[in-house]
Amino acid sequence: VMRMGLQGLGSIASFFVRAIDADPALCLTAVCDLDERKLAAFAEQGLATFTHITSLLDAGDVDAVVVTLPNDLHAQAALAALARGVHVCCEKPLAVTSSEASALEAAAAAGGLTLFTAFHRRYNRNLAALARRMPADRGQIRRIAARYHENILEHVGRESWCLSPRQCGGGCLIDNGPNILDAIRHLVGPLTLRDASLGDVRAGSEFFATLSLANEDGIPIEIALDWALPAGEVKDITVALGNGYVHSMDFLAGFSGFKSSLDHEYRGILTDFQRAVSAGPAAERDTGSEIVRLVEQAYQMARRKEFRIRMSAKNAATARMVKLLFHTVHDRGMRLSPWSSRCISAGEVHELVTTPDRPSAPGEVVNRAGFLGFAEFSTAAVVERGDEVFVGDRHIGTVRGFDECHFPNHYNILIGATRPVTAADIDLRVGDEIKFAEHAG
Ligand SMILES: NC(=O)c1ccc[n+]([C@@H]2O[C@H](COP(=O)([O-])OP(=O)(O)OC[C@H]3O[C@@H](n4cnc5c(N)ncnc54)[C@H](O)[C@@H]3O)[C@@H](O)[C@H]2O)c1
Repeated sequence: VMRMGLQGLGSIASFFVRAIDADPALCLTAVCDLDERKLAAFAEQGLATFTHITSLLDAGDVDAVVVTLPNDLHAQAALAALARGVHVCCEKPLAVTSSEASALEAAAAAGGLTLFTAFHRRYNRNLAALARRMPADRGQIRRIAARYHENILEHVGRESWCLSPRQCGGGCLIDNGPNILDAIRHLVGPLTLRDASLGDVRAGSEFFATLSLANEDGIPIEIALDWALPAGEVKDITVALGNGYVHSMDFLAGFSGFKSSLDHEYRGILTDFQRAVSAGPAAERDTGSEIVRLVEQAYQMARRKEFRIRMSAKNAATARMVKLLFHTVHDRGMRLSPWSSRCISAGEVHELVTTPDRPSAPGEVVNRAGFLGFAEFSTAAVVERGDEVFVGDRHIGTVRGFDECHFPNHYNILIGATRPVTAADIDLRVGDEIKFAEHAG
């Protein structure tokens, strides 16, 4: 029988306690929590109780520990266990940083010990059913999409460490990302990150994130993570095949009670953990560090971006037409300036030019042009590529960039449209208001 210790007696710990109780090969012998009130019930059952992680380990009556502490404590708790020859089953994420994860792997290898991350969704029975339906020939899969949406406040209290970016390591990306990334990796193998965006940031925690990835066959995978669903949960995977057929699975189908799927998933974790311990350190297996690296990479990629999705980042710029123009040309020879945004002071006048040309690189020529006229900006503003341009409610086009041939007198603001559009084409009048609104993201 494997003697188990439990570090952290919060909401997820009870699923481990039940799973250990249900398994005759396991025996819970010791528990630890800072909060002494949580220890009393275990002490009554005769278990050794501790308020410090290392005291539990130093008492020496565990073969393995389960780490169910806040994320920022995972690495130190796991390292302390490995240093004392104790196997580790750690809640996801294994660590907050890849350097911590590497240190854990090195310590496990040095001690010949099992280091294991509890990715519970991997054992979900609906995921197993989807895995059985996946085509043997991966070439038949065209794309995979997954949603992991919930209202975080239904899962944790307002005061939870989970809402502290320092303790959690981030927001929904590090909290729920590991579960869905692991589930998809379980279906189609190792993943490479292509793109990541964060959004809806509240007190430093992102409540929304999107990831684009690919597996080794190049199958595109899109994941959306949301902590701000009004209520309930949407946790599913859709696999689109080349023949038009779609397989989909819902992690929660058949489990109507809140968190009721977790019991079978946590039993699966402990069965697999024991298998890993029995197989020994020679068996090549994943410790959970790859997911730490993917999540870290996603944060680095997303944080470098200037924008955050699902967040308004600027005031719409408004301008009034002061002179109209009515002509089109097909050989104007304007050039796209290198700037993706321009600051405009209140009272400045700039020229609005529509074009079906799609310049992308600086210096690229814009020949086809329709002229709307000149507009005076009423307040200081930042106009940038991607802004949507409206006259009243009518959408005119999207800002493609700027041409500076008349600068410093004024910029030509290049507005992408399906054809060259003039003031006459849209019935523009002197005094009409033009709005430049940020792209909705
Ligand atoms: N709640 C879930 O649905 C869920 C699901 C999957 C995974 N997890 C993971 O499980 C872990 C724990 O999450 P939770 O929701 O159970 O958190 P929780 O806040 O409910 O529990 C954490 C426990 O750790 C104790 N603790 C904090 N610091 C300590 C310290 N220094 N020494 C000893 N005890 C300490 C707290 O008193 C608390 O009882 C997290 O890594 C989380 O990502 C949670």
